[in-house]
Order: sequence, then C-alpha cells, then structure tokens
Amino acid sequence: MKISIINGPNLNLLGSREPQIYGSENFTSYFKKLQKKFRDIELFYFQSNIEGELITQIQKDGTNRNGIILNAAAYTHTSVGIGDAIKAIQVPVIEVHISNTFAREKFRTTSFISPNAKGIITGFGLQVYDLAIQSFLL
Ligand code: DQA
Repeated sequence: MKISIINGPNLNLLGSREPQIYGSENFTSYFKKLQKKFRDIELFYFQSNIEGELITQIQKDGTNRNGIILNAAAYTHTSVGIGDAIKAIQVPVIEVHISNTFAREKFRTTSFISPNAKGIITGFGLQVYDLAIQSFLL
C-alpha cells in the first residue's frame, strides 16, 4: 500500500512554530517514527507553502497512491482549488489537523477539504497522522 502525507503552509516549521499548539517535535523526526511503525506501508511525504504546488502534488498522488493524508493547514479554510483537486481524483483523502480547529478561531471551522474527504481527524497532536494511516488499514 502506498500512502502520501501532504502538508501545507508553515508545517515545515513544526517543532518551533507555536509549540503550545503544535508541539515541539519536527515532522522529519515524526515521519521516521511512522515509517518504522508502519514498515509494510510505503509512506511518502511532501510539504509546500505554495497552493499550486499542493494542487499539483494532489493530482499526481491521485494517480499513483492508494490514499492521501492531507493537512492543508491555513489553505484548508480558503482554498477552492485544493477542494476541487480532491473532487477531481478517485483516491481517498483523509483530512487531518494537529490542533482541534473547532476549539479555535471561528474561521478555522470552515474547511474546503471536509466535503470531499473520506474522513476527518483533528485535535490529537501529531498522532492524527498515525490514526489516519490506521484508518486505511481497517
Ligand atoms: C492546522 C490548523 C490550521 O487552522 C492552521 O492554519 C495550520 C495547522 C493544524 O494542523 O492544526 O496551519 O491545519
């Protein structure tokens, strides 16, 4: 099974960015743990701060992966383009958020991803990625 994790803007700063909200572990180290835990799954990781690059990656992964785990970060709340990209592909997308977006500012309760996602996992810290992988194994 091939699963892609796609992270959006500012998630390259995990570990140092607002650690009280996002924790103090960087994603590179966490990704290594995921690879170790899920040895039988081919995991791929892509991060970009650029909306169009995220859309291009979703289109590519929509043809050659079994699933996509997407944290579109701030673009979750604004991007019609990313929402449309998910509609355009057949591969199931799990929307994840490290923080509980419903417990924060009102604008974070809007998502252009959710209507087209297979499911949503939010608010469990970095473990949301682990839980999303597990959801593909059910
Ligand atoms: C986030 C929540 C978003 O509202 C925010 O813009 C992010 C990260 C999360 O993982 O909790 O950058 O997607």
